[in-house]
Formats: sequence, structure tokens, C-alpha cells
Amino acid sequence: MTFIQWNDTYKVGHKIVDFDHMTLVNITNELFLRVDRGFSDEEIAQTIALLIDYVERHFEREEELFLNSDYPDKDKHREMHKDITKTVKDIAKVYRTDPSAINISEVLDFLKKWLTNHIMKADQGYAKYL
Ligand SMILES: [Fe+2]
Ligand SMILES: [Fe+2]
Repeated sequence: MTFIQWNDTYKVGHKIVDFDHMTLVNITNELFLRVDRGFSDEEIAQTIALLIDYVERHFEREEELFLNSDYPDKDKHREMHKDITKTVKDIAKVYRTDPSAINISEVLDFLKKWLTNHIMKADQGYAKYL
């Protein structure tokens, strides 16, 4: 079972951005798989770290693209990126200290919702200005 099924309606029509989004979906699916198969806390923490790293690099690339465009919601969009980065980093920090304090299934559901909503709504919003 695939946790998040990539759908072409997720595409914003920019090669680099679409590749990034597919990669984010893949890493989230990998996280799901590791949780599902009972990988160790360390192996799960590593995947969360990988996800954070890729999220940050993706946001940098994306922001650079829309900052140079006439997209009107730049500031709001950057705030959304900042919020999610902080949320995921906080989760990762707690998980590193005490994995039992984190409900990883809830985190996965949250990531799935956030990712698909953000790509479908916020990211589609700047696409036409690129
Ligand atoms: Fe975004
Ligand atoms: Fe994005």
C-alpha cells in the first residue's frame, strides 16, 4: 500500500518544483513504510531528518522562484513554509529525545494532509506567475 499516491493534478507545471514535490511524497512514503515495518527509532529519526533537510532545500528553491515573480502572496506563502518547518523540526527534536512521546501515525497523517493541501492550493497559487 502506498501512503500518498502521486497524482498528476499535484503538478504545478514547473520541472524542478514538480520533481521536488514528488521527492517529498517519496520520502514521506518511505517514512510510512519504515513505521509500518517496525524500523528502529533511530532509522525513523533518520528519515525524519532527511525529510526536514529536503523540505528546507525545496522551500529555498521555491521561494527563490516566486520572489522573482509578480506572485502577490509571497509573504504569506513564506510564513506557511516557516510554520511547517518549525513544526516538523519540533517534532523531530522531541522524537530524538523520547520517541514514545510522539504519535508517529498522527504525524504521518498530518504530513500527508499538509503536503497534499499545500501543493494543491498554495503552490498552485504561484505557478501561474512563473
Ligand atoms: Fe510552497
Ligand atoms: Fe512546494
